[in-house]
Amino acid sequence: MNIGIMVFSKTGNTLSVAEKLRDTLFEKGHKVTLEQVTASNGVEMDPKKVVLSNSPSTQGYDMLVFAAPVYGFGLAAVMKAYLQGVPSLEGKLLAGFVTQAFPFPGMGGKQAISGMEKLVKAKGGTLSATGVVNWMFAGKRKALIAETVETIAAICQ
Ligand SMILES: Cc1cc2nc3c(=O)[nH]c(=O)nc-3n(C[C@H](O)[C@H](O)[C@H](O)COP(=O)(O)O)c2cc1C
Repeated sequence: MNIGIMVFSKTGNTLSVAEKLRDTLFEKGHKVTLEQVTASNGVEMDPKKVVLSNSPSTQGYDMLVFAAPVYGFGLAAVMKAYLQGVPSLEGKLLAGFVTQAFPFPGMGGKQAISGMEKLVKAKGGTLSATGVVNWMFAGKRKALIAETVETIAAICQ
């Protein structure tokens, strides 16, 4: 499968998980491209005010993974703005995950994934696998990273 991982990461947490996912998918024999979504005002909370400086193309991939941090108990506005701008996602295999500082998914992670699901749905797609990585405690973080990578890798046999 030709897989694109589209990641927004300001301080590197989400990127590090995306890199693990890339390596795992690559080891399974897939062609994987990791692209970074960037903005000149990355911590902006209003997606309408986000100025994207890199908005990678979603064309040509069989599967796409979207990854971003939780900001303000929801999906980071940079990822919202990016997803609002992508063309139709119909017919593609899709997955998404978020990372967050707080230790429980109810503290923004779940809301961020529902926000991502809504935006993907507006483009005709559905997330077939999702993950939330709570960063605060090292042991839990490690387990959640492994679980997220495994869950997403499992949908592309
Ligand atoms: C502006 C801002 C808002 C944030 N809001 C939340 C939040 O609501 N809940 C949470 O758990 N973490 C929150 N965080 C922490 C990030 O989600 C967390 O550190 C994440 O892993 C950062 O990902 P990155 O290193 O890929 O940028 C916030 C961070 C920033 C900068």
